[in-house]
Amino acid sequence: MKFDRTKKQAAGKKGSAAKTAGVGAAVQAKKPAKKISPSRRQASAGRKAAAKSQSADRPKDNGPQLTQEPGKVALESYPSAENRPFSSPLEVLRGRRIVLTVTGGVAAYKAAELARLLTKNGAQVRVLLTKAAECFVTALTFSSLTAQPVASDLWAETSARENVAHVAWAQWAEVMVTAPATANFLAKLTHGLADDLASSVALAFGGPRLAAPAMNTGMYLNPATRTNLELLRQRGYRILESPEGLLACGSVGAGRLAEIREIAWETARLLTGGPLEGRRVVVTGGATREPWDDIRFLSNRSSGRMGACLAAAAWLMGAEVTFIAGPAAIVPEVSPEGLKIVRIQTCEELLAAVRKAIEGAWALVMNAAPADFKPAEKVAGKIRKSKDKLPQLALTRTPDILKTLASELGRTIRVGFAAEDGDNPVQRARQKLKDKNLDYICANRAGGAGDTFESPDIELTFLSAAGREIPIGPVPKFQAAWTLWELLAAGTKRS
Ligand code: CTP
Repeated sequence: MKFDRTKKQAAGKKGSAAKTAGVGAAVQAKKPAKKISPSRRQASAGRKAAAKSQSADRPKDNGPQLTQEPGKVALESYPSAENRPFSSPLEVLRGRRIVLTVTGGVAAYKAAELARLLTKNGAQVRVLLTKAAECFVTALTFSSLTAQPVASDLWAETSARENVAHVAWAQWAEVMVTAPATANFLAKLTHGLADDLASSVALAFGGPRLAAPAMNTGMYLNPATRTNLELLRQRGYRILESPEGLLACGSVGAGRLAEIREIAWETARLLTGGPLEGRRVVVTGGATREPWDDIRFLSNRSSGRMGACLAAAAWLMGAEVTFIAGPAAIVPEVSPEGLKIVRIQTCEELLAAVRKAIEGAWALVMNAAPADFKPAEKVAGKIRKSKDKLPQLALTRTPDILKTLASELGRTIRVGFAAEDGDNPVQRARQKLKDKNLDYICANRAGGAGDTFESPDIELTFLSAAGREIPIGPVPKFQAAWTLWELLAAGTKRS
C-alpha cells in the first residue's frame, strides 16, 4: 500500500500482497443476483418499501449492474477490480503502455526515477530522449531501468516491424508523459514542430498526454511559456505546474519538476478515468481525538487506511475528492490537484468540515470512526498525578454526524460504515442504515475475530436501503474501495 504509514502498518502489507484468496471473493461481489439475501422477491419488496420511505429526490438504487446500458456508465472502459485486482493505487498501471519523453534539462536525472517507479508498478515504459536530454542522461540508464527500447534519433534504422518509428511509437503508447518538459520542447509541442523523434511522436499521438515542466523561473514565468502551457491545457494536455523551490541555477522560485510520485499518480489517473469523472465526493477516515487535558485524549484504533483507499480510488476514477482525516489517519502519499486532504482533531471539527465540504457533492462516504463520547470538560494544562486520589473522568456525548447532517445532504448519496463486533453484524448495520437515513452501509468487523481495524485487508457486506446485500472480500482495502465505487457508480444516478 503506497500510503504514508507507520512502520507497523508497513509491515502489515506483506500479508496483503501475499493474499490472493480475496480476489475470488471480490469477483463474487460482482454477481449480486446469486448473493442477494434472502431472495430476489424479498429484495424487490424491500426496495419498494425503502424507496417509499426515502424522499423523492434521493438517488435511485438501480442495483449494481456492471454492464453498459443506455444511461449507465461503461464499466468495461476502465480497469475493473474484478478483472485486475489492485492492492495499491499505482498498481492500476500494471500492463499499461507508457511513452516517457525526457527533454534536456537538469531535472532529466529525475526521469530515471520516474521510469523506474512506473516500471516497478508493472507498466511498460518506453523512453524517448531528445538530443539535449542525452547531454544529461544516457539511453543505457533508461533501457536498464525499463527493459524496453529507448530511442532518440528520427533517422535511425528501425526494425522491419517498426519501419516508421515515430508512427509505431505513437500507435504503441496508451499515454504520453513528458517529464521534464523544457520551455523549448513545450514551444515545439504548442506549435506542432516535428524536427526530432520525440516531437514527431508527440505530434502523431492522439491519446492522453501529460507534461511536467521544469526550467529556470524566468523561463517558466515568461509570457511565452505561460501562453504555451495554457494552449496545451486547452488542447487536453494535463499540465503539472512546477512547484517552487531551490533550482539548480541557485535561485529559489517556480520551475522545479513536480514530485515523481505525483507524476506517476497523474499518469495512472489519465489511464483510468471512469465512472466518477465530473463528480465530487467527500470521504472521511480515521479516528477523532477528544481532548481531556492538553496532552491526553480519548480516541480509537481506526487507522484511516480504508478512508485513504476510498479517497485515492475515487480520485483515480476521475472524481474530485475531499478527504477529511483524523489527526493520526493514514492519508494518500500525494495530494494532487483534485485530491484535497483536510485534517481534523475532534468529532465537532469533523462535523464542521463535512458540513463545509458536502455542498453539491455527489456522495458522502463516512468511513471515519468519530468518538461517540468525549471528556465532559477539557482541563487546561496537564493533569498531575497525586498520591492519594485518582482524577475522575466524566463523559458527555459527541454529535452523531450522519444524523445531524441528514436534512442538509439533499441529493448527496450517503454511505456509512458500520463497525460491528459480536453476532449479527449485518442486522445491526441495517438498523444503522435506517436510523441514519443512509442509502448504503458497509458492515465490517471491529474488535474480536475478523477485526479489520489497522489491517491492510477488509471483509465487508455492502447493504443498500433497497435491501441488497453484497459480500466483498477479504481483499486488500484498496481493492474493496475500488469495488465500492464501482457499485455506487453503477447503482445510482448522477445528481
Ligand atoms: N458516525 C457519525 N457520527 C458519530 C459516530 C459515527 O456520523 N458520532 C458514523 C460513522 O462514520 C459510520 C456510521 O456512523 O459511518 C456508523 O458508525 P459506528 O461507529 O458503526 O456506529 P455508531 O453510530 O457510533 O454506534 P455504535 O458505536 O453504538 O455501534
